[in-house]
Amino acid sequence: MSEKITLLVHGAFYQGDAIRRRMLTAEKNENLLTVLKRGGLYLRDCSGNGSCGKCKVRFLTGAPLPTTGERALLSAGELRAGVRLACRHTVSVSMELVIEAEAAAIPDVVGVLPDAVSAWRADASDAVSAWRVDAEDSVGLPAPVFAAVDIGTTTIAMRGMCGGKEVGAYAALNPQRVYGADVVSRISAGMQGHAEEMRQQICACLADGMRLIKEQCGRTPAYMVIAANTTMVHLLCGDSVEPLSVFPFEPVNIKPQQIVVAGIPAYIICGISAFVGGDIVSGMAALGLHKGSNLQLFIDLGTNGEIVLGKKGTFLCTATAAGPAFEGNGSADLMGADLIRIVAGVLDEGLMDAHGLLKEPYFTKGITRAGAHVTQESIRELQKAKAAIAAGIELLLEQYGAAAGEVSDVLLAGGFGYYLNPDAAVRIGLLSDAFAGKIRAVGNTALKGACLLGNSDMSGFAARTEQLTKGCTYLNLAAQEKFEKKYISHLDFPS
Ligand code: FES
Repeated sequence: MSEKITLLVHGAFYQGDAIRRRMLTAEKNENLLTVLKRGGLYLRDCSGNGSCGKCKVRFLTGAPLPTTGERALLSAGELRAGVRLACRHTVSVSMELVIEAEAAAIPDVVGVLPDAVSAWRADASDAVSAWRVDAEDSVGLPAPVFAAVDIGTTTIAMRGMCGGKEVGAYAALNPQRVYGADVVSRISAGMQGHAEEMRQQICACLADGMRLIKEQCGRTPAYMVIAANTTMVHLLCGDSVEPLSVFPFEPVNIKPQQIVVAGIPAYIICGISAFVGGDIVSGMAALGLHKGSNLQLFIDLGTNGEIVLGKKGTFLCTATAAGPAFEGNGSADLMGADLIRIVAGVLDEGLMDAHGLLKEPYFTKGITRAGAHVTQESIRELQKAKAAIAAGIELLLEQYGAAAGEVSDVLLAGGFGYYLNPDAAVRIGLLSDAFAGKIRAVGNTALKGACLLGNSDMSGFAARTEQLTKGCTYLNLAAQEKFEKKYISHLDFPS
């Protein structure tokens, strides 16, 4: 009989200061990284081949002896503190671990936003019971396993789902990253003849995920539901990305689609425009925005910032290039949310003026806070990014005919939203102070939406997803005369 082993995992799942813990079980001798992923705890990783040195965990008790590879990748201090690489160890005894914030990659929505989660669960169980009725009436078979997929520009996340329950999980860095971190660089790589290679990279990754989910639950997913931005969808479907690079930025196809990936049907969630894709539509589904009667603002920040404003029936959305600032300094050692917190602190300390200029000697050599080094250049990048987002929000509100104070919830998607300190976001002027107290992290809504949209009779998929985009109007910021002026007015920090 297989032996079950318990793991208690702390940290990396905190909001504010509330440390979260999660209890996981593993089979004896299972790989630790696999166990953590299955439990929804994602580490920055290289799919477990031991070369990136990022899948760090800290053993609170009984740290195993470090491997030769770990001695090369980890510092002596880390090794002494019990830090090890999860992919290099198996689970043989009960253990207690800490995942430090900087090692975590994609936070799970569970435990972050109880309201949204329970709303999602309620929706999911509705969908599940609806499906069960269908299933029992028609074939009387057990619920199918399907794979919900979020293809992000940076990360690919997958969940195996069955009857509304998670039965497997997989995450990997998007292999297309070798062609650049953002969609613009992927589009240009596609135009330079690398599109087919990028398509194959994603397909191989999805096939890997399918294999892993099958290993975890013993069944091959019958189909997958994919949430992705418009560029990722074009690359996956083999459509030309060229139209996404030139005015009027007309996508080849943003309708719901069905293709075959890894030998199974893959349902692709429809998008709204070249820059507001199926990942956002999926997020809207996860959050139930189309049912809400209060005005809500939904923001997904990364190298691009997508913003949706509205309530049941009428939505305005837009997207703005935010550059690398929200991804930190482009490496794992400074995340964008940390940069915002540090800059807010430096403002409060009076070491920087409202124009974003550090006082000497920091102007020349940068400033170090909480172990992270921030330069004048990274502050400048942050100013541009936050000005673009703040101006975008202001324009949406104006066009909607609403004041910032009328917004009832500001919902921040993705890992960035999870780590962002709302007070710091308001302090630097990324978000209006009228939003204070209303800002909440909602986790990976693209993935949650795919879980939800796949949990139903798939013959109605196209109609159901298109319904979500009804009443959604895309606002092209570049065509708005006022945008430039607003952007400039938001470059400074609030004094
Ligand atoms: S996953 Fe890269 S070292 Fe473990």
